[in-house]
Amino acid sequence: MRNRNFVRFLLVTVVAAVLACAPAMAAQAPHAMVVSESAQATQAGLEILKKGGNAVDAAAAVALALGVTNAGSCGLGGGGFMLIYMARQGQFFALDFRETAPKAATADMYIRNGHPNERLAVVGPLAVGVPGQVAGIRDALKRFGTMTFQQVAAPAIKLARDGFPITSLLAGEIAHNRNYIAAEPEFAKVFLRPDGSAPPADTVIRQPELARTLERLGNRPAENFYHGEIAREIASYIKSQGGIITTDDLSDYRAVWREPLHRAFQGNEVYVMPPPSSGGVLLEMLGMLEPGHLPGLGLNSPPYLARLAEVMRQGFIDRALYADPAFVHVPLQVLLSPKHIDEARRRALHHNTLAPRIAPAHDHGTSNFCVVDKDGNVVALTTTINTAFGAKMMVPKLGVVLNDEMDDFAVAPNVPNVYRLQGAKANEIAPGKRPLSSMTPIIVVSHGRPIMTTGGSGGPTILTGVLQVTLNILDFHLGPEQAVTTPRIHEQASPDIIFAEAAIPEPTRRALSEMGYKLKVVPHLGAVNAITIEAGNLHGAFDPRKGGGVAGY
Ligand code: DON
Repeated sequence: MRNRNFVRFLLVTVVAAVLACAPAMAAQAPHAMVVSESAQATQAGLEILKKGGNAVDAAAAVALALGVTNAGSCGLGGGGFMLIYMARQGQFFALDFRETAPKAATADMYIRNGHPNERLAVVGPLAVGVPGQVAGIRDALKRFGTMTFQQVAAPAIKLARDGFPITSLLAGEIAHNRNYIAAEPEFAKVFLRPDGSAPPADTVIRQPELARTLERLGNRPAENFYHGEIAREIASYIKSQGGIITTDDLSDYRAVWREPLHRAFQGNEVYVMPPPSSGGVLLEMLGMLEPGHLPGLGLNSPPYLARLAEVMRQGFIDRALYADPAFVHVPLQVLLSPKHIDEARRRALHHNTLAPRIAPAHDHGTSNFCVVDKDGNVVALTTTINTAFGAKMMVPKLGVVLNDEMDDFAVAPNVPNVYRLQGAKANEIAPGKRPLSSMTPIIVVSHGRPIMTTGGSGGPTILTGVLQVTLNILDFHLGPEQAVTTPRIHEQASPDIIFAEAAIPEPTRRALSEMGYKLKVVPHLGAVNAITIEAGNLHGAFDPRKGGGVAGY
């Protein structure tokens, strides 16, 4: 008995200590704010804002710092999307620095003996797309930044050189990929302990090669990364492993400025990334829900979740038409027209479902963050190397972890990728093409002024997570903390199942089953962070599902 009491006392003490140490998941500030999936990366952004940098400078600093602290999720070897609102112009800008397929890539490059081998698109040299991260950060800074690359890279360089205690997220990713990491001595030297075991959370790790690479980028990061010595080191390492990315692929890489998509919702205007993001699907789903008087159904009530699931399914059916607009005509005018959205809403009736045999891939690649500066500029940025530790390869001398973004293409018609998304013709592989993405950073304005920004990580659950958090804020008037914490569902048409977080109460799940839906209970679905914006009151929260940091001044 005394023993049991002692154990209980210990448990209570440990839980209290953990809660006391855990950073607050929400913060309020009058002028400027950063929320990201890392406490240190958030501080990097705040440091830049306090030094007088604007939201774009701070976003560059956060992205570079995340590449160090969340090295399993994003970094110089990956790419992303950046949605920017510049207050002075009152305009939105979308920067696409998504990876591209190498010039030698072909639609059938993963077919072996007549059969698709999807594994080749996930692990190893053929999985790697030409990285876009450095070009994206350079172009954003060049157009809107006020600081040099070395100024915004300084916090990341310090973190990489001096080290930082790893989170349980990174510790878990390392443990999960230990065998891949152990296969490459330089990779192992950074992420494993000397005895080859995976380090536990809070172990301090250092990335001296990555620090050096960030320094070598100087103030001409794109020239230095895509041309010259660094490009040669990347290409020769990939070639030595049997990959096909060449120095030509690197020198031809360009980030692309695009016109954001937008649509009215409840008197607001929602801005999203255009293709090759599938952000348009989010607009379509919002459009289908708009006349629905959702608050009347009740937040997370069975009829509300059923309606969401039906709308999500329709959205994902149309997602098959999205792809790189340089290669495929994406019929946005049709997809986002009131007529199509009305028809999609009518089609959004429940039909018989397949057996729930598949869970969404449990993966932690990708990182989203949002920044608001004192002048009202806003950046929402999602960046990724795709699955945790990307292609499971690190360029040894550079400390750069390489992405496995090729898996976001259709590996072969109707072959599902790691996120169980079915391969569609529009998204087949071609040289220089960008793979379709679910990454959906968004900014919402009301009467011409930003009122909220959000985005997430978690493959296709990004679209449905961002949808639910946006509805929680705009329709249910929740603060960001509750908006991101509220349990979520996910439905992506194939498999035709409602994935429900375990935190959705059992009676609600039972009611959905009784309505005829097939449910699969999962621990959690992606991670979404958000900031709500009012004059003199910024309110941000990160997602406790994944952890992070939020800070402002
Ligand atoms: O661009 C995409 O849609 C994927 N590469 C995102 C991957 C992701 O979010 C992994 N997450 N946990």
